[in-house]
Amino acid sequence: MQELLEQLRRQFLEEIAKIEWEESLKELLSNYLGKTGKLKEILWGLKDLSNDEKKTIGPMANTLKVFMEEEIEKKSQELEDAHFAKIEDEEAIDVSLEFPLKGRGHRHPISITTKLMEDICISLGFKIADGPQIENEDYNFDKLNIPADHPARDVWDTFWIQDDINDKQPKNNKFLLRTHTSPVQIREMLKGRLPIKIIVPGRVFRYEQEDARHTCNFYQLEGLMVGEGVTFGDLKWTLDTIMKKLLGEDTKLRFRPSIFPFTEPSAEVDVSCQICKWTGITTPQSPPSKGGEVVRWKKCSMCSGSGWVELLGSGMVHPKVLTACGIDPEKYSGFAFGIGIDRIAAQRFGVSSSRMFYQSKLKLNEQF
Ligand code: PHE
Repeated sequence: MQELLEQLRRQFLEEIAKIEWEESLKELLSNYLGKTGKLKEILWGLKDLSNDEKKTIGPMANTLKVFMEEEIEKKSQELEDAHFAKIEDEEAIDVSLEFPLKGRGHRHPISITTKLMEDICISLGFKIADGPQIENEDYNFDKLNIPADHPARDVWDTFWIQDDINDKQPKNNKFLLRTHTSPVQIREMLKGRLPIKIIVPGRVFRYEQEDARHTCNFYQLEGLMVGEGVTFGDLKWTLDTIMKKLLGEDTKLRFRPSIFPFTEPSAEVDVSCQICKWTGITTPQSPPSKGGEVVRWKKCSMCSGSGWVELLGSGMVHPKVLTACGIDPEKYSGFAFGIGIDRIAAQRFGVSSSRMFYQSKLKLNEQF
C-alpha cells in the first residue's frame, strides 16, 4: 500500500511537470483528487486493511493529498505568472515612441461664428438665454400669434413628434421640433421679469427639400428686447452695429417691409454681399483680352447677382404677443430679430453654399 502511494506521488509529479495550461491542471486535479480520482481509489482500499495498517497508511494518504493540493496550487500560480509575463512582453506599449501628430481639431465654422455673435451681443448688454429643441405647439406657434389653421403656419414646414406621443397631448399643445428660436421669446416673457434683453443662439428644424440654400436643420440667433420706450430706431441701431462688427465697417444694411405674425411692423434685413463685395458678380470666366473682346462676368451665386443677401427677419413685438405673455402693450414695447447664423458664417468665410457646412467636409472646415 505504501508502495502504491509512493508510485502515485511519482506519477503525479511527472505529470504536473509537463502541464502548460490551466485547463490541463484542472483535469489533473480531478484525475487524482476528484471523487473517482486515483487517490480516492486507494483510500477505498483502506477498509480491507488491519487497524494498525490503517493507522500508518491513513495519515500517509492524507499527507499525499495535502501535498498534491499544494503542488497544484503552486503550479496554478506559476501558470498565471507566466501568462501575465507573456502578455507584458507581447503587448507592451512603448510610451516613448514618437508618431507624427495629425493636427488638432478645432471649432466648426458655425460654432466660431456663433461665439463671435454672442461676444458682440454681450458687449451690447444682451444676456444669453436657451430653450428646448423639442418645443410645444403653443410656444412655437399660438402664443406667437400663429393660431392653428392659419396659413402662416405653412411658412414654417414642421417636423411633428410621433402621433402616438402627440395623441396624448391636449389640443394646441402637441410637440414638434422648433422651427425657429422665437418660442424662447415666449419663455422669457412669461417669466414676467422686465426689462428683457436677451439673445438665443440655437438649432432649428424645417421639413424642407434640401438645396444650395436650404437645409432641414440650421442655426439661428434670436434677439429680444422688451422694456419701456423701446423703438424701431433701437432695432435699426442694434442690427447695424452687430452686422458691422461681424462683417466689417463697410457693410451696408437694407430694411425691406415684411410680414411676420409676431412682429408689427416687420422688416427683413439684407446686407451687402461680402462674397462679391456688393457687385453681384464674381471673377470673370476669362481675363479681359487686349483686342477689346467682351468679358463674360459670372453672377455671384451667394446673392444671385443682386449684391444683397437676406440674413434676418425682425420687427417690433406684436401687441398680441405681449398680451399673451401677460405684458401690458400700452406700457411696454419691444423689438425682436432672428438671424441665420449659417448664412453669416458663409458670408464671413466666403463659402458660397451654407449646406457645405453640414457635409462633414474636413477639407472645407479645416480652413477656418
Ligand atoms: N422667427 C423668424 C423666422 O424664423 C425670424 C424672426 C424673428 C422674425 C424675430 C421677426 C422677429 O423666420
